[in-house]
Amino acid sequence: MTVAYLDNNATTRVDREIAEAMSPFFSESFGNASSNHAHGAAVAPALKEARQQVQALLGAEFDHEVVFTSGGTESNTTAIFSALETAPERNEIVTSLVEHPSVLGVCQHLERTGRARVHYIGVNASGDLDLDALQASLSDKTALVSIMWANNETGRIFPVEEIASLAKSAGALFHTDAVQAFGKMSMALKETAIDLMSLSGHKIHGPKGVGALYLRKGVELNPLFRGGRQERGRRAGTENVPGIVGLGAAAKRARRTLAEDIARIENLRDRLEAGLLASAPLARVNGGGGDRLANTCNISFDHADSEAVLHGLDRAGVAASSGSACALGSMEPSHVLRALNLPPSALQGAIRFSLSRETTDEDIAKVLAVLPDIVARVREKSPLWADARPSRVA
Ligand SMILES: Cc1ncc(COP(=O)(O)O)c(C=O)c1O
Repeated sequence: MTVAYLDNNATTRVDREIAEAMSPFFSESFGNASSNHAHGAAVAPALKEARQQVQALLGAEFDHEVVFTSGGTESNTTAIFSALETAPERNEIVTSLVEHPSVLGVCQHLERTGRARVHYIGVNASGDLDLDALQASLSDKTALVSIMWANNETGRIFPVEEIASLAKSAGALFHTDAVQAFGKMSMALKETAIDLMSLSGHKIHGPKGVGALYLRKGVELNPLFRGGRQERGRRAGTENVPGIVGLGAAAKRARRTLAEDIARIENLRDRLEAGLLASAPLARVNGGGGDRLANTCNISFDHADSEAVLHGLDRAGVAASSGSACALGSMEPSHVLRALNLPPSALQGAIRFSLSRETTDEDIAKVLAVLPDIVARVREKSPLWADARPSRVA
């Protein structure tokens, strides 16, 4: 059975072209970039080229730095620790309730250990960030404002350029977790006030375990990993050369057809969404009220337990996800959807479909063919559905 893979915000398939670009750097050009011999010298140009390929997709100046890391989680952690440590007279962080756990986890750790006070900014029901609350929480104590560029669960895009300017006016650094935005929308970093930005390879058909931290020229970085002089002393540890080459190749590939891919993917996503809304009663799109990534559709089928729906989809050859996290043996609704203040019936029934440039018309047709029946079957098992179904309500 061919599977309609619609979980690309979790990870993507490595593009064949990208795997081929990486291939020589395992057994042929296997050198350590720091070695003072021909093997070392052979890989240095590849690292330089990958850096330029990433910078090009970011729309960054070539003297803005790109520090290669092990992925989005490391980049986020580095940015937050570094911002606090480079501004010892400031100890506050402003972030949002809908960040990825790799940002929230670090913020909570810093609060628990008494190293920072953190302000968590909320969103309204359509997913807009409360910019008034954000502005009110800024002060001369703010070391860092960290707001994601695009949300991984809803695809919601936040006005990071505006927020970067607000942060700047308070003398704080601005960091954005752009793991989901990178390679999925066009960027012109050189025209923004963004100081630090995290990105990752595996969301754009590149390899897992590699990412980068972008640094505006002149922004000080306190490294998380110390010792070696790799990455000009900004990230110690022998470079993951095949991974970095793969990230560069993925950036180059994404840039080549970005505009047309976005338009095609958005068209597929909109068809999927319209079809789903029309096919099942009490369905609603979550966080779809404004600017959104073209590839993401987060939709709730009230009273249809999402884990049961996902299981049904899996058996029918469709891979999607819910934002739920397994905690102590029970399914906890996603913190992102809770922040949107969804009613419990919708929280429980949320499914995320995330598309990529590999998604086909057939994938969308398959979901539309199988999902209505799956949702209907799952709802029949819910004691609350009998009272909620529209025909009974009328
Ligand atoms: C918004 C966001 N930030 C950070 C990460 C973590 O990135 P990585 O898997 O490269 O550590 C993810 C991955 O799901 C993400 O979606």
